[in-house]
Amino acid sequence: MRAPLIAGNWKMNGSLELVATFAEELSRTALPGGVEVALMVPFPYLEVARSRLPETVGVGAQTLSDQPSGAFTGEVSGGMLADLGVQMVLVGHSERRTLYREDDAAVLARVRAALGVGLVPVLCLGETLEERDAERTEAVVLGQLEAVLDALTADERQRLVLAYEPVWAIGTGRTATPDQAQQVHAAIRARLASYDAQLAETTKVLYGGSMKPSNAVELLAQPDIDGGLIGGASLQVDDFLAICHSAG
Ligand code: G3H
Repeated sequence: MRAPLIAGNWKMNGSLELVATFAEELSRTALPGGVEVALMVPFPYLEVARSRLPETVGVGAQTLSDQPSGAFTGEVSGGMLADLGVQMVLVGHSERRTLYREDDAAVLARVRAALGVGLVPVLCLGETLEERDAERTEAVVLGQLEAVLDALTADERQRLVLAYEPVWAIGTGRTATPDQAQQVHAAIRARLASYDAQLAETTKVLYGGSMKPSNAVELLAQPDIDGGLIGGASLQVDDFLAICHSAG
């Protein structure tokens, strides 16, 4: 019913050579049937990634401007991404929320900018360790979710992918246990159901945070985990492919 999606987020890593390696490997290796695969690469590599990766592999950006055009030096608009054949874009990744101070309003503006040009926003949600220790995980994650969903129409809500990424598990080697992750994913799905039962049925909710070949099978087996947003392990083509196969 919800096809799993495995999306690699290269962050500010990679090179033309790495794009070429992925293009070669993903072209000659059969990807598992029924699994959607995407790579979110840095802006300079989007065009070559789109032209060299197999058509079946989605290409995504890691952020976008909230503005359509104008005097915003250094920014990249959703329209420019759509021009390149990019299909999706991360919004609200915890690194953007923290390092670039993107608050819920900034995240919402970027979700709207993405939807406005037909890109799929992959909306990232997650709590810090302090928030988890204070037993505020669900309040924080559902608050981030509602800040966006409350402002969208029913039709717009259907076009999002969600990613739960506990901040304390990102790049730390410390993964949420399958039970910990499933608990938050179930809470997200219950909140989606409070908007619309069909929204809860159809929305993909990915898990991100030190997902790797050794833990992917167990995480992806959880009923409310519909794929992964993979950071570090998406820089090694063998690891990335192994995770893709874990979802098949
Ligand atoms: O977007 C990906 C996440 O931040 C996870 O990164 O797999 O390196 O922990 P990680």
